[in-house]
Amino acid sequence: MGYISLQNLSKTYGNKFKALDNVSLEVEQGEFFVLLGPSGSGKTTLIRCIAGLETVDSGKIIVKNRLITDYPPGERNVAMVFQNYALYPFLTVYDNLAFPLKARGRLRKRLWSEALGQGKAPTTGIGYQLGINPIKPTEVKENIRERVNRVAEMLQITDILDRKPGQISGGQRQRVALGRALIREADVYLMDEPLSNLDAKLRSSTRIELKNLQKKLGITIIYVTHDQIEALTMGDRMGVINKGQLVQVGKPLDVYNMPDNLFVAGFLGDPPINQVDCSVSERSSTAISFGGYDLELPGKPDLSSHSGKPLKLAIRPEDVEFADSGAKGTVTFVRSIGRINYISVVLSETEEMVTKVTTEQLAISEGDSVLVTPKASSADVFERDNETLVWSAKKQ
Ligand SMILES: Nc1ncnc2c1ncn2[C@@H]1O[C@H](COP(=O)(O)OP(=O)(O)OP(=O)(O)O)[C@@H](O)[C@H]1O
Ligand SMILES: [Mg+2]
Repeated sequence: MGYISLQNLSKTYGNKFKALDNVSLEVEQGEFFVLLGPSGSGKTTLIRCIAGLETVDSGKIIVKNRLITDYPPGERNVAMVFQNYALYPFLTVYDNLAFPLKARGRLRKRLWSEALGQGKAPTTGIGYQLGINPIKPTEVKENIRERVNRVAEMLQITDILDRKPGQISGGQRQRVALGRALIREADVYLMDEPLSNLDAKLRSSTRIELKNLQKKLGITIIYVTHDQIEALTMGDRMGVINKGQLVQVGKPLDVYNMPDNLFVAGFLGDPPINQVDCSVSERSSTAISFGGYDLELPGKPDLSSHSGKPLKLAIRPEDVEFADSGAKGTVTFVRSIGRINYISVVLSETEEMVTKVTTEQLAISEGDSVLVTPKASSADVFERDNETLVWSAKKQ
């Protein structure tokens, strides 16, 4: 069992809307796990359930071998950064950061009673011995100051520690909210789009800082975002959630390169993956037809069980080739942004658009005729209706 084990979690709002549908997930200790999904897919709901701010209809939540499904939030030892974070308006930034360190009484009590249940005797500083509260009471004040300063430095908010939340910018407030979670010694840190209010430059530097800090401290983070760049660059592993279901879990590059279904394929990638109608070729069950062209698939897979069904060929823009044979098309758009060239082609037979992205300088202009085909190693074929994977070149 993982350090965090979510088992068959389901959650319905108002008796009918299924926000989480049988979600199971294992997260390892020290892992940076990113939960990625479109708006309304259930990301916030899932981490609010872990934090105890929502109750689940069914399923189990286990963190560090503690079954916490029915515990109140204060007794779960999880720290959370909210999507709509709120700071205490009458406290300074310093006191906002220090607050969670002072308010841990109930959790300590719960952990004590659990420890007693296992036959351990209460001695002074039992929290200290259990590794729950690494601060000895005599050290508390000094330690709080040190930790506030360390977190403030990391988040570049040292110079605003004396101000109140009303006197700082939105981006600074968001960093204070992040700091308030990081300052605690929690079993898991739940972060709901914690960088969304930062400008592009600060977001990218804070991402790196956060990732470095997480590594250095060895803490476990479940990080929610709908930004695929964040998911691909920050996550040790990621999970893609859609309509309350966890549809794929894996290392970011594996999920990007080997999507299990058409939703994941289409959700990751910018520009998005090309999706072209296709079907099993009438001439050969090891080939597919798209745009009037029969593409013989490498390894000659037998696709006869999919004959006659509507399928989709998915090709990443970086995997589109203009070759000696392929579907006929006409170049309709050529643009360069820095070193990257974007070329759009409309397939003659089906009028579908295919986009190619390359750093190569191609002698191509709008109006040219080309033959379009995927790189041999990178075609994916899905069922159009249920979006399941039929065949993937990378999985051979
Ligand atoms: N308290 C609630 N009562 C009823 N429905 C809710 C409630 N909270 C969320 N929902 C619904 O549950 C679904 C999942 O919401 P959730 O907030 O988890 O999505 P999300 O993935 O975090 O989206 P976003 O990226 O926009 O923050 C949505 O359709 C939402 O409307
Ligand atoms: Mg949300």
